[in-house]
Amino acid sequence: MQIVNTVSDIRDVIKAWRVAGETIAFVPTMGNLHAGHIDLVHKAKAIADRVVVSIFVNPTQFGVGEDFATYPRTEQADQTQLLAVGADALFLPSVADIYSPDAVTMVTVNGISERYCGAFRPGHFSGVATVVCKLFNIVQPDKALFGLKDFQQLTVIKIMVRDLNIPVEIIPVETVREASGLALSSRNGYLTAAEKSVAPELYKVLCEAKAAVCLGKQKFADIEQHGLRTLEQFGFKPDYLSICCSHDLSPATVEDTEIVILVAARLGKTRLIDNIYFSKDI
Ligand code: PAF
Repeated sequence: MQIVNTVSDIRDVIKAWRVAGETIAFVPTMGNLHAGHIDLVHKAKAIADRVVVSIFVNPTQFGVGEDFATYPRTEQADQTQLLAVGADALFLPSVADIYSPDAVTMVTVNGISERYCGAFRPGHFSGVATVVCKLFNIVQPDKALFGLKDFQQLTVIKIMVRDLNIPVEIIPVETVREASGLALSSRNGYLTAAEKSVAPELYKVLCEAKAAVCLGKQKFADIEQHGLRTLEQFGFKPDYLSICCSHDLSPATVEDTEIVILVAARLGKTRLIDNIYFSKDI
Protein backbone atom coordinates (compact mmCIF):
# COMPACT_ATOMS: atom_id res chain seq x y z
CA MET A 1 0.00 0.00 0.00
CA GLN A 2 1.37 3.39 -1.00
CA ILE A 3 1.10 6.07 1.67
CA VAL A 4 0.83 9.47 0.05
CA ASN A 5 0.81 12.81 1.84
CA THR A 6 0.49 15.44 -0.87
CA VAL A 7 -1.96 16.31 -3.61
CA SER A 8 0.73 16.25 -6.30
CA ASP A 9 2.00 12.82 -5.21
CA ILE A 10 -1.47 11.20 -5.20
CA ARG A 11 -2.10 12.69 -8.65
CA ASP A 12 1.14 11.01 -9.89
CA VAL A 13 0.14 7.62 -8.39
CA ILE A 14 -3.31 7.82 -9.98
CA LYS A 15 -1.95 8.98 -13.33
CA ALA A 16 0.24 5.87 -13.55
CA TRP A 17 -2.80 3.63 -12.89
CA ARG A 18 -4.85 5.51 -15.48
CA VAL A 19 -2.10 5.11 -18.09
CA ALA A 20 -2.22 1.36 -17.39
CA GLY A 21 -5.99 1.46 -18.05
CA GLU A 22 -6.99 0.70 -14.46
CA THR A 23 -10.25 1.78 -12.80
CA ILE A 24 -10.30 3.49 -9.41
CA ALA A 25 -12.67 3.28 -6.46
CA PHE A 26 -12.41 5.83 -3.67
CA VAL A 27 -13.32 5.62 0.02
CA PRO A 28 -13.09 9.01 1.75
CA THR A 29 -12.87 8.82 5.55
CA MET A 30 -11.86 10.82 8.60
CA GLY A 31 -9.94 7.84 10.01
CA ASN A 32 -10.42 5.98 13.29
CA LEU A 33 -11.46 3.13 11.05
CA HIS A 34 -13.96 0.51 12.20
CA ALA A 35 -15.56 -2.51 10.56
CA GLY A 36 -17.95 -0.24 8.63
CA HIS A 37 -15.05 1.51 6.89
CA ILE A 38 -13.29 -1.79 6.21
CA ASP A 39 -16.47 -3.10 4.62
CA LEU A 40 -16.44 -0.05 2.30
CA VAL A 41 -12.88 -0.94 1.26
CA HIS A 42 -13.84 -4.60 0.70
CA LYS A 43 -16.72 -3.53 -1.53
CA ALA A 44 -14.47 -1.03 -3.33
CA LYS A 45 -11.96 -3.78 -4.12
CA ALA A 46 -14.70 -5.85 -5.73
CA ILE A 47 -15.70 -3.11 -8.18
CA ALA A 48 -12.42 -1.51 -9.33
CA ASP A 49 -8.81 -2.36 -10.12
CA ARG A 50 -7.41 0.09 -7.55
CA VAL A 51 -8.71 1.41 -4.24
CA VAL A 52 -7.72 4.77 -2.77
CA VAL A 53 -8.68 5.53 0.85
CA SER A 54 -8.31 9.05 2.22
CA ILE A 55 -8.01 9.94 5.88
CA PHE A 56 -8.57 13.63 6.47
CA VAL A 57 -10.23 15.13 9.54
CA ASN A 58 -11.86 17.98 7.69
CA PRO A 59 -11.93 21.19 9.77
CA THR A 60 -14.61 22.90 7.65
CA GLN A 61 -17.31 20.38 8.58
CA PHE A 62 -16.92 20.94 12.33
CA GLY A 63 -18.73 23.83 14.00
CA VAL A 64 -17.54 26.00 16.88
CA GLY A 65 -17.52 23.93 20.08
CA GLU A 66 -17.61 20.61 18.18
CA ASP A 67 -15.03 17.84 18.42
CA PHE A 68 -12.52 18.75 15.68
CA ALA A 69 -9.60 19.02 18.13
CA THR A 70 -10.47 15.82 19.98
CA TYR A 71 -11.71 13.73 17.04
CA PRO A 72 -9.89 10.37 17.42
CA ARG A 73 -6.74 10.24 15.30
CA THR A 74 -5.48 6.64 15.13
CA GLU A 75 -3.24 6.73 12.06
CA GLN A 76 -1.07 3.75 12.92
CA ALA A 77 -3.96 1.37 13.64
CA ASP A 78 -5.79 2.68 10.55
CA GLN A 79 -2.77 1.94 8.34
CA THR A 80 -2.49 -1.59 9.71
CA GLN A 81 -6.16 -2.28 8.93
CA LEU A 82 -5.93 -0.81 5.43
CA LEU A 83 -2.84 -2.85 4.66
CA ALA A 84 -4.61 -6.01 5.83
CA VAL A 85 -7.70 -5.35 3.71
CA GLY A 86 -5.58 -4.61 0.63
CA ALA A 87 -6.12 -0.91 -0.12
CA ASP A 88 -3.73 0.26 -2.86
CA ALA A 89 -3.13 3.79 -1.65
CA LEU A 90 -3.75 5.76 1.52
CA PHE A 91 -4.02 9.51 0.95
CA LEU A 92 -3.18 11.37 4.16
CA PRO A 93 -3.02 15.08 3.33
CA SER A 94 -2.41 17.89 5.80
CA VAL A 95 -4.97 20.66 6.32
CA ALA A 96 -2.57 23.08 4.59
CA ASP A 97 -2.37 20.81 1.56
CA ILE A 98 -6.15 20.70 1.16
CA TYR A 99 -7.02 24.28 2.12
CA SER A 100 -4.81 27.08 0.92
CA PRO A 101 -4.88 30.02 3.38
CA ASP A 102 -6.41 32.12 0.57
CA ALA A 103 -9.27 29.69 -0.16
CA VAL A 104 -12.64 31.45 -0.46
CA THR A 105 -14.71 28.88 -2.38
CA MET A 106 -17.23 26.59 -0.71
CA VAL A 107 -19.74 24.17 -2.21
CA THR A 108 -23.26 24.40 -0.75
CA VAL A 109 -26.12 22.11 -1.67
CA ASN A 110 -28.98 24.44 -0.82
CA GLY A 111 -32.15 23.36 0.96
CA ILE A 112 -31.29 19.89 2.13
CA SER A 113 -28.13 21.14 3.87
CA GLU A 114 -30.18 23.27 6.26
CA ARG A 115 -32.53 20.50 7.43
CA TYR A 116 -32.22 17.72 10.01
CA CYS A 117 -28.53 17.55 11.02
CA GLY A 118 -27.90 20.76 9.08
CA ALA A 119 -30.29 22.66 11.35
CA PHE A 120 -28.28 21.59 14.40
CA ARG A 121 -24.85 21.84 12.76
CA PRO A 122 -24.92 25.02 10.65
CA GLY A 123 -22.31 24.89 7.87
CA HIS A 124 -21.61 21.19 8.40
CA PHE A 125 -22.85 19.99 5.01
CA SER A 126 -21.10 22.83 3.15
CA GLY A 127 -17.89 21.61 4.76
CA VAL A 128 -18.65 18.04 3.72
CA ALA A 129 -19.66 18.98 0.16
CA THR A 130 -16.60 21.19 -0.26
CA VAL A 131 -14.08 18.62 0.91
CA VAL A 132 -15.72 15.74 -0.99
CA CYS A 133 -15.80 17.86 -4.17
CA LYS A 134 -12.11 18.70 -3.69
CA LEU A 135 -11.21 15.06 -3.01
CA PHE A 136 -13.13 13.99 -6.14
CA ASN A 137 -11.18 16.58 -8.16
CA ILE A 138 -7.89 15.31 -6.73
CA VAL A 139 -8.52 11.55 -6.98
CA GLN A 140 -10.89 11.57 -9.99
CA PRO A 141 -12.29 8.14 -9.11
CA ASP A 142 -14.70 6.12 -11.26
CA LYS A 143 -16.68 5.15 -8.18
CA ALA A 144 -16.87 6.45 -4.61
CA LEU A 145 -18.35 4.53 -1.69
CA PHE A 146 -20.24 6.05 1.24
CA GLY A 147 -21.96 4.46 4.21
CA LEU A 148 -25.75 4.64 4.42
CA LYS A 149 -25.44 5.45 8.12
CA ASP A 150 -24.84 9.07 7.09
CA PHE A 151 -27.98 9.06 4.94
CA GLN A 152 -28.31 12.83 4.73
CA GLN A 153 -24.61 13.21 3.87
CA LEU A 154 -25.01 10.62 1.12
CA THR A 155 -28.04 12.49 -0.27
CA VAL A 156 -26.16 15.82 -0.21
CA ILE A 157 -23.24 14.22 -2.08
CA LYS A 158 -25.49 12.61 -4.69
CA ILE A 159 -27.18 15.96 -5.38
CA MET A 160 -23.80 17.73 -5.59
CA VAL A 161 -22.49 15.15 -8.08
CA ARG A 162 -25.64 15.53 -10.19
CA ASP A 163 -25.66 19.34 -10.09
CA LEU A 164 -21.94 19.81 -10.75
CA ASN A 165 -21.68 17.02 -13.39
CA ILE A 166 -18.92 15.29 -11.46
CA PRO A 167 -18.08 12.10 -13.39
CA VAL A 168 -18.19 9.66 -10.49
CA GLU A 169 -20.65 6.91 -9.56
CA ILE A 170 -21.75 7.10 -5.94
CA ILE A 171 -22.14 3.66 -4.33
CA PRO A 172 -24.14 3.53 -1.08
CA VAL A 173 -23.13 0.77 1.34
CA GLU A 174 -25.22 -0.75 4.15
CA THR A 175 -24.66 0.35 7.73
CA VAL A 176 -22.65 -2.12 9.81
CA ARG A 177 -24.19 -2.71 13.25
CA GLU A 178 -23.12 -4.34 16.47
CA ALA A 179 -25.22 -7.36 17.52
CA SER A 180 -27.14 -4.93 19.78
CA GLY A 181 -28.23 -2.96 16.71
CA LEU A 182 -25.98 0.01 17.48
CA ALA A 183 -24.59 1.41 14.22
CA LEU A 184 -20.79 1.48 14.14
CA SER A 185 -19.40 5.00 14.39
CA SER A 186 -16.07 6.53 15.28
CA ARG A 187 -17.94 8.61 17.88
CA ASN A 188 -19.16 5.48 19.74
CA GLY A 189 -15.73 5.57 21.38
CA TYR A 190 -16.86 8.65 23.34
CA LEU A 191 -19.64 6.66 25.10
CA THR A 192 -19.20 5.58 28.71
CA ALA A 193 -19.96 1.92 29.53
CA ALA A 194 -23.38 2.91 30.91
CA GLU A 195 -24.18 4.98 27.81
CA LYS A 196 -23.01 2.16 25.55
CA SER A 197 -25.63 -0.13 27.06
CA VAL A 198 -28.40 2.43 26.41
CA ALA A 199 -27.21 3.49 22.91
CA PRO A 200 -28.87 0.54 21.04
CA GLU A 201 -32.27 2.02 22.02
CA LEU A 202 -31.74 4.51 19.19
CA TYR A 203 -32.07 1.77 16.58
CA LYS A 204 -34.90 0.07 18.49
CA VAL A 205 -36.88 3.31 18.39
CA LEU A 206 -36.30 3.49 14.62
CA CYS A 207 -37.49 -0.12 14.22
CA GLU A 208 -40.63 0.67 16.23
CA ALA A 209 -41.32 3.77 14.14
CA LYS A 210 -40.87 1.72 10.96
CA ALA A 211 -43.32 -0.90 12.28
CA ALA A 212 -45.89 1.84 13.01
CA VAL A 213 -45.53 3.26 9.46
CA CYS A 214 -45.79 -0.21 7.91
CA LEU A 215 -48.85 -1.06 10.01
CA GLY A 216 -50.56 1.87 8.32
CA LYS A 217 -50.55 4.40 11.14
CA GLN A 218 -51.43 7.62 9.33
CA LYS A 219 -50.28 10.36 11.69
CA PHE A 220 -46.55 10.49 11.15
CA ALA A 221 -46.24 13.41 13.59
CA ASP A 222 -47.58 11.12 16.36
CA ILE A 223 -45.07 8.38 15.47
CA GLU A 224 -42.27 10.96 15.56
CA GLN A 225 -43.43 12.37 18.90
CA HIS A 226 -43.70 8.90 20.41
CA GLY A 227 -40.15 8.07 19.27
CA LEU A 228 -38.78 11.33 20.68
CA ARG A 229 -40.49 10.72 24.04
CA THR A 230 -39.16 7.16 24.22
CA LEU A 231 -35.63 8.40 23.56
CA GLU A 232 -36.00 11.00 26.32
CA GLN A 233 -37.17 8.28 28.72
CA PHE A 234 -33.93 6.42 28.05
CA GLY A 235 -31.90 9.55 28.82
CA PHE A 236 -31.23 10.78 25.26
CA LYS A 237 -31.57 14.43 24.30
CA PRO A 238 -32.97 14.03 20.79
CA ASP A 239 -32.35 16.67 18.11
CA TYR A 240 -34.94 15.24 15.71
CA LEU A 241 -36.68 12.08 14.56
CA SER A 242 -38.21 12.58 11.10
CA ILE A 243 -40.09 10.36 8.69
CA CYS A 244 -38.94 11.37 5.21
CA CYS A 245 -39.08 10.43 1.53
CA SER A 246 -35.87 8.55 0.93
CA HIS A 247 -35.16 10.09 -2.49
CA ASP A 248 -35.03 13.77 -1.46
CA LEU A 249 -35.55 13.75 2.34
CA SER A 250 -38.70 15.86 2.11
CA PRO A 251 -41.21 15.14 4.91
CA ALA A 252 -43.10 11.95 3.98
CA THR A 253 -46.85 11.80 3.50
CA VAL A 254 -48.99 8.67 3.81
CA GLU A 255 -48.93 8.32 -0.02
CA ASP A 256 -45.15 7.98 -0.11
CA THR A 257 -43.76 4.46 -0.36
CA GLU A 258 -39.96 4.96 -0.25
CA ILE A 259 -39.28 6.02 3.32
CA VAL A 260 -36.32 6.81 5.50
CA ILE A 261 -36.62 7.64 9.18
CA LEU A 262 -33.75 9.85 10.32
CA VAL A 263 -32.75 10.37 13.93
CA ALA A 264 -30.09 12.29 15.83
CA ALA A 265 -29.80 12.37 19.61
CA ARG A 266 -27.25 13.20 22.24
CA LEU A 267 -26.32 10.69 24.88
CA GLY A 268 -24.17 12.42 27.47
CA LYS A 269 -21.50 14.24 25.45
CA THR A 270 -21.92 12.07 22.34
CA ARG A 271 -24.13 12.94 19.39
CA LEU A 272 -25.40 9.79 17.65
CA ILE A 273 -27.18 9.58 14.31
CA ASP A 274 -28.90 6.65 12.65
CA ASN A 275 -31.66 5.86 10.17
CA ILE A 276 -33.80 3.08 8.80
CA TYR A 277 -35.02 3.00 5.19
CA PHE A 278 -37.60 0.80 3.59
CA SER A 279 -40.30 0.43 0.95
CA LYS A 280 -43.77 0.60 2.44
CA ASP A 281 -46.10 -2.13 1.24
CA ILE A 282 -49.04 -0.68 -0.65
O1 PAF B 1 -18.29 10.59 6.54
C1 PAF B 1 -17.14 11.06 6.74
O2 PAF B 1 -16.27 10.44 7.31
C2 PAF B 1 -16.84 12.48 6.26
O3 PAF B 1 -17.94 13.31 6.40
C3 PAF B 1 -16.29 12.53 4.82
C4 PAF B 1 -17.29 12.04 3.81
C5 PAF B 1 -15.02 11.71 4.74
C6 PAF B 1 -15.95 13.99 4.45
O4 PAF B 1 -15.00 14.53 5.34
